[in-house]
Amino acid sequence: MSSLVQGLKRKIQAMRRVYFDNNATTPVLPEIFEAMRPYFAEHFGNASSIHHHGQETRAAVEHARESVAALLGCRASEVVFTSGGTEGDNLAIFGLVREGDHVLSSTIEHHAVLNSCKHLQSIGCEVTYVPVDGSGLVDPKDVRRALRSNTKLITIMMANNETGVVQPVEEIGKIAAEADVYFHTDAVQAAGKVPIDVKHIGCGLLSISGHKMHAPQGVGALYVRKGTILQPMLRGGSHERSRRAGTENVPGIVGLGKAAELAEEGLRRGDLARMAEMRDRIQEKILAEVEATGVNGEGAPRVPNTTNIYFDYIEGEALVIALDLKGLAVSTGAACSSGAIEPSHVLTAMGLPPERARASIRFSLGKQNTPDDVQFALDLIPQTVARLRELSPVYNKRAVRS
Ligand SMILES: Cc1ncc(COP(=O)(O)O)c(C=O)c1O
Repeated sequence: MSSLVQGLKRKIQAMRRVYFDNNATTPVLPEIFEAMRPYFAEHFGNASSIHHHGQETRAAVEHARESVAALLGCRASEVVFTSGGTEGDNLAIFGLVREGDHVLSSTIEHHAVLNSCKHLQSIGCEVTYVPVDGSGLVDPKDVRRALRSNTKLITIMMANNETGVVQPVEEIGKIAAEADVYFHTDAVQAAGKVPIDVKHIGCGLLSISGHKMHAPQGVGALYVRKGTILQPMLRGGSHERSRRAGTENVPGIVGLGKAAELAEEGLRRGDLARMAEMRDRIQEKILAEVEATGVNGEGAPRVPNTTNIYFDYIEGEALVIALDLKGLAVSTGAACSSGAIEPSHVLTAMGLPPERARASIRFSLGKQNTPDDVQFALDLIPQTVARLRELSPVYNKRAVRS
């Protein structure tokens, strides 16, 4: 290795790094990793095997199922383990909807739901996407108005991944119950951040994902209310009560179970108030110190870890890169659309002009973040924005005019 490469490597390693992109993915917490560790090599059995090794892992899977059920307020038998949020969303949608059915969704869903709905349209289903207002909220009255005699499913997310805005899911649940329509909610960004009780929400299906709550990537769960007839997407063995074939990902499931336990404890202890304080400090300081900024989704109820802020006159992607070079990881929104030139579908659905949507940055905190991390970010952001604006012809023209 050349001395130049070695020098660069040392520089990268020595740099302080703060991660504020926890809505993209979270680090596995040490206690979750420790809970999973024995299930890689020591307790390696297939949970379907009847011998000792299988019984050992079966017990761990069922323990995790109970922990997830406790977080969601349902029975353990109503929890189906999946490979993550995308699979849970797909299973809920394609497990229920058939040609000729009508589905009701919203314009701000994650692509796991939006692209599933798009596919439904290509196979002879009708989909209505209810709009959101300027703060990113669906109006339940629009949901009621959009119902049809052939509506089979309402799928509207609980918390948005870009803005953190929490939808009025209980009201939507009531509408669904009155109309005798299935209600699925994508709670991937809500789990562990706000209390979830499926009975209170009135949903028949709800998806969560491990890696958004400090468990590993590649594991999740779908709550399916008892008695729901759901066609499996994967066919094979009769795992997960014949709802999801395939040998269980035991270490991942154990991690998800532990994450659910920690999430429940954290919610009970009020840990999220500390996170909301840090989030609010980021927001307040930026708005006070950097001109032409604002919060997308302000005024609406939001999960405590997320704020989405626009910095007019700069490109969000350029700010993400400039901050990353200084050690701060943030995002322009959905991780999967990063690098795309298209402005966020969520922010444009909220009525933001494309330039403002492209100038927006998401800050999303995790359990590992500290007030020191917040200070680190606040020390960097104003100067980095100022530097980028100096290079912005639009900003300079505006400065000359004013
Ligand atoms: C709201 C929402 N739904 C679904 C998903 C997909 O989850 P997964 O990455 O576990 O497939 C994500 C991930 O970003 C999300 O934020």
